[in-house]
Amino acid sequence: MQPHTGTRVEERCAQLRCIGCGRLHQSAGRDLRCPDCGDLFEVIYPEWKSSQRDNTFDPTVLKSVWCQRRVSPTLADRSGVWRFREFLPRLGELESVVTLSEGNTPVYELPECARIAGIERLFAKHQGMNPTGSFKDTGMTVAATAARQEGFQWVACASTGNTSASMAAYAARGGMRSLVLIPEGQVTWGKLSQALDYGAVTCQLKTDFDGCMRVLNEVVRRTSVYLLNSVNPYRIEGQKTAAIELFEQLNWETPDQIIVPGGNLGNSSALGKACLEMRDLGLISKLPKISIIQAEGANPLVRAMREHGGEKLLPVQADTMATAIRIGNPASWKKAVRVLKSTGGTVEDVSEVEIALAKAEIGAEGIGCEPASAVTLAGLKKLIKQGFVRRKDFVVLILTGNMLKDPDFTMKFHRGDLFPDEDKSAVLKNRQRAPIVLEANVDAVLKLLEKA
Ligand code: F0G
Repeated sequence: MQPHTGTRVEERCAQLRCIGCGRLHQSAGRDLRCPDCGDLFEVIYPEWKSSQRDNTFDPTVLKSVWCQRRVSPTLADRSGVWRFREFLPRLGELESVVTLSEGNTPVYELPECARIAGIERLFAKHQGMNPTGSFKDTGMTVAATAARQEGFQWVACASTGNTSASMAAYAARGGMRSLVLIPEGQVTWGKLSQALDYGAVTCQLKTDFDGCMRVLNEVVRRTSVYLLNSVNPYRIEGQKTAAIELFEQLNWETPDQIIVPGGNLGNSSALGKACLEMRDLGLISKLPKISIIQAEGANPLVRAMREHGGEKLLPVQADTMATAIRIGNPASWKKAVRVLKSTGGTVEDVSEVEIALAKAEIGAEGIGCEPASAVTLAGLKKLIKQGFVRRKDFVVLILTGNMLKDPDFTMKFHRGDLFPDEDKSAVLKNRQRAPIVLEANVDAVLKLLEKA
């Protein structure tokens, strides 16, 4: 069979459905919210209904076509997102997608972390191995393509850093200008420097992420810029493909549990949507439980689930050293609650020390990640202690950001400067590897080696 590598995206009419009132729309307004009730949109595919579905969506055909595209040289097929285009909306000519060959990220086994946590099989899908170093690229390729297709010259986002880095890169690739609003002093230099280098107009606002989001919502209402935060339903569609790629890498074996960090809650929503859609189309026969972990100081979803059964979310004043997820009023919380309820997953929050320790443990396996990603391992340990995850469960952690995004955190950790409180940080001591300053002297080095 020939791979589907034609120049046009196959005719596929996706629709936007409001997650609140359920009304259908062909396109969204600039604020990407339902004009009737103000809730978020999701993309649906009416042609997937079993009565209308053609052979293209046969699970065996899909799996084989996706596999064959891996050796195709075309731009779209080299992308680990557009390779799965049957799960994406049709956005014009295939050769004009805005892509940096995103996706195609590795899955690693973590035997030592598994042993520490107390389970037999633990894997990590490392979304930090994307072109700009975070999972945001998988969504950005789709949403930036939509922005260009709709003729926008400017795109914009509020960000804790990774979205802005990714957006700036994809805007540059797509010939668009980009506006970044970030909280002053709360974004790592690794991320901020990316946005600058990729040419974004970068504003450091004297507020937090939630404040930046408020300002941006008003900016997009007043002027013609395309909003690229994860309220954008096309971002969610692109981010879904990480789950499809993961299952393909696991030879379509379904893990029992997938564990994801939670910030603005777009990613967990996307991974959950992908799993439900794969199940509905017959690509997988059971759903993994998807659980969401937040930092204790930025845990609005955990509270919403524990205190209000997921019925309402009260914003919190967010504070954590895992700056990527320092978010108190997550936009996609209703979508995330739906994922938790439909997959049987749970929520947990973890302390700053637990995050730092888990990050060092992942690093010690030669992989590394940014602090926000390490909440997954820290959360897993707690879920095992509670019995929610069993010893024999097959678990996959989603690592969302590259370790090089935040070297300052890592240096402070190894130098013992992360926590002033000695008692608190005692547990971290045997993971710390501060650099050793020596005279340029062979004996001194050999002596050190002997001791080590
Ligand atoms: N991990 C990393 C490394 C992130 O950058 C983010 C979010 C998350 C996890 C949480 O994902 O928001 O989909 O629940 N970063 C955003 C940003 C908000 O602006 O870069 P989420």
